[in-house]
Amino acid sequence: MSFDLVLFGGTGDLAWRKLLPALFQAFRHGSLPPGGRIIGVARDELSDEQYRALIRSRFEQVELAKRPSPEEFSRFAALLHFLRMDLSRPQDYQRLAATLRERRAETVMMYVATAPSLFAAVCEQLAGAGLNTPETRIVLEKPLGHDVASNREINATVRRGFGENQIFRIDHYLGKPSVQNLFALRFGNVLFEPLWRRETIANIQITLAEDLGAEKRGAFYDSTGALRDMVQNHALQLLCALAMEPPINAHADAIRDEKLKVLRSLRPWVPEALGQHVVRGQYTAGTIGGEPVRGYREEPGVDPRSTSETFVALRTEIANWRWAGVPFYIRTGKRLAASDARIVVNFRPAPHAIFQSPTGAANRLVINLQPRDGLELHLLAQGQDSRGGARRAVQSLTQVHLDLDFEKRFGSERVGAYERLLLDVIDGRLNLFVRSDEQEEAWRWVEPVLEHWQADTSGPRSYAAGTWGPSAASAMIARDGHCWSEEC
Ligand code: BG6
Repeated sequence: MSFDLVLFGGTGDLAWRKLLPALFQAFRHGSLPPGGRIIGVARDELSDEQYRALIRSRFEQVELAKRPSPEEFSRFAALLHFLRMDLSRPQDYQRLAATLRERRAETVMMYVATAPSLFAAVCEQLAGAGLNTPETRIVLEKPLGHDVASNREINATVRRGFGENQIFRIDHYLGKPSVQNLFALRFGNVLFEPLWRRETIANIQITLAEDLGAEKRGAFYDSTGALRDMVQNHALQLLCALAMEPPINAHADAIRDEKLKVLRSLRPWVPEALGQHVVRGQYTAGTIGGEPVRGYREEPGVDPRSTSETFVALRTEIANWRWAGVPFYIRTGKRLAASDARIVVNFRPAPHAIFQSPTGAANRLVINLQPRDGLELHLLAQGQDSRGGARRAVQSLTQVHLDLDFEKRFGSERVGAYERLLLDVIDGRLNLFVRSDEQEEAWRWVEPVLEHWQADTSGPRSYAAGTWGPSAASAMIARDGHCWSEEC
């Protein structure tokens, strides 16, 4: 199958850090269909050869295991082309159309990896130049808008030119092997489904922690903040995967219909919950891995008086029969104590105790997303008691866990998130992409939080880099009698 992949923002960070390395991995694994072209588009004045040389030099910064050898790069480079475009000029889209007509590939993909403010304009221009043929797919990066109205506007513009089944809205978390394993765990096994409900589950925690700071994206991050950057999309998509009903089949719309129902069932915000169940924070100078790091307001591109949040912790509930009354906690932040993404499902304790157990002990399922990718099932077992416990009248139990490391089990050659998603775009599979109604519903749910913060002049609470965020996040969960998994 021949394809043309047009990469708008072809010299940008996302292109060389994530997309081109992922395409190279697909090429290396032999999964990229032969006969493809990757056309980088940017304003720079570059020939194909200069673009290849630029990408080759950028690949030096890619992690070693994913870096091509010179021989591999020269084979991969044959796919790379460059087209200079000013994205505001209709004539330039005509030139793109001429380039694509040169060979009329069976599938054409437009990957819009530009500044988000250009998404709508690019889609409009593509349609205006007749580049919205039925074999064309358009891929949009997040964030799509910054609130409900702007999201709706972008989606409306895109949909004037393209059908919903041509639009691939990326949330790269859905491409992570660990997140696909979450679907497999829930819908490929009978073991957990009967327990996956309010009668047995006490609470669920989603933690997406990073030890990195704003890095080189200070200006973008400062106008975005953690709620828009991580919660509206990645965290809510994980929440959907955890809470959705089993879909009737594995087709895209069957899955997306169920996710949408979860988003619609999220408990609407009321003033009291906004005050008590949401904590925002911003990091100050601290230490990461023994090295001093600067505070958020000192980061390049960040307003020295910024009130943007680099941390959010919140509590919500899903108002339906399966989940009523079960708290779902979401926590994400930059410059936290560790880079660690995990979901913890805390089960209720046994209803009647005939053994002695450590305080608060109960079953727990930990879904590790990264850096390790695997499952831990915490159980209570009869351990060896050197103090003659076996003779005691009441037996006491200890906590043990079954540990499944997917990397060890399936090898490090597993398909990465962007590789998976790009191959899905080529194959036209929409399962792991977000539909416009899901996206809009997610914005609708976060918007009251954004409005509350705008009106609340107290600003974010500070936390030192290298910690787990403001202590108010621990206080929030403690009010329910629970604790974050690293605290208990
Ligand atoms: C991106 C956010 O969507 O996800 C970044 O914009 C964040 O701020 C990144 O660092 C995290 O992704 P991952 O795959 O490294 O967990």
